[in-house]
Amino acid sequence: MQNRVIFCLAVILCVATAPTQGEYYSESVAAVPMQQKVTKLHFFLHDILSGQNPSAVMVAHANLTDGDKSPTPFGSVFAVDDALRVGPESNSEIIGNAQGLYVSSSQDANNFAIVMYIDFALTSGEFKGSSFSVFSRNPVSEPSRELAVVGGRGKFRMARGFAELKTAYFNGTTGDAIIEYNVSLFHY
Ligand SMILES: *[C@@H]1O[C@H](CO)[C@@H](O)[C@H](O)[C@H]1NC(C)=O
Ligand SMILES: *[C@@H]1O[C@H](CO)[C@@H](O)[C@H](O)[C@H]1NC(C)=O
Ligand SMILES: *[C@@H]1O[C@H](CO)[C@@H](O)[C@H](O)[C@H]1NC(C)=O
Repeated sequence: MQNRVIFCLAVILCVATAPTQGEYYSESVAAVPMQQKVTKLHFFLHDILSGQNPSAVMVAHANLTDGDKSPTPFGSVFAVDDALRVGPESNSEIIGNAQGLYVSSSQDANNFAIVMYIDFALTSGEFKGSSFSVFSRNPVSEPSRELAVVGGRGKFRMARGFAELKTAYFNGTTGDAIIEYNVSLFHY
């Protein structure tokens, strides 16, 4: 009952304050507080640089690193469309994909780190069509680490949260990596 009253009030306020023609903004009003939900996700991201069909490709690198033996020299930028799978096996079920960019951001080769600008979308189950956005440093050489979730789409609209990561597999020659994710999403 109380919820319905608040909802009606919210609708009236929104209608009353929608931008009128000739004005590009509405009057700012207090937002109606909504109950937050938490959703946890568990999956493995498969970031594959090697082979005929890589899921991560270098799209730019610094001249300075021409001839660098590392698969991910400082300053290199990768575009990714990585599979999200339920397990670490390369044939386990796909439940989504991670699309975006990461940049190799550490000058210290012993402390390899990237910064990720990546949208994680789910393609099956309850959250099919929804995604959450990561904009975060990822100190890859640390065994366990945390990423910031800064937003979301669909059922994850307005999401915030964090992802806990552990490396399940890493090949320093090819750069191929399989990463376990536990994601906690706070959304409405
Ligand atoms: C980068 O390297 C290429 C080829 O060696 C050269 O033609 C170009 O001028 C260099 N660019 C810069 C900004 O140094
Ligand atoms: C994710 O959570 C599960 C269950 O609590 C735990 O076994 C696993 O180690 C966690 N993985 C990461 C990367 O935090
Ligand atoms: C890394 O990849 C290379 C090239 O495919 C392969 O020869 C090597 O065995 C791999 N190393 C590990 C630890 O999987």
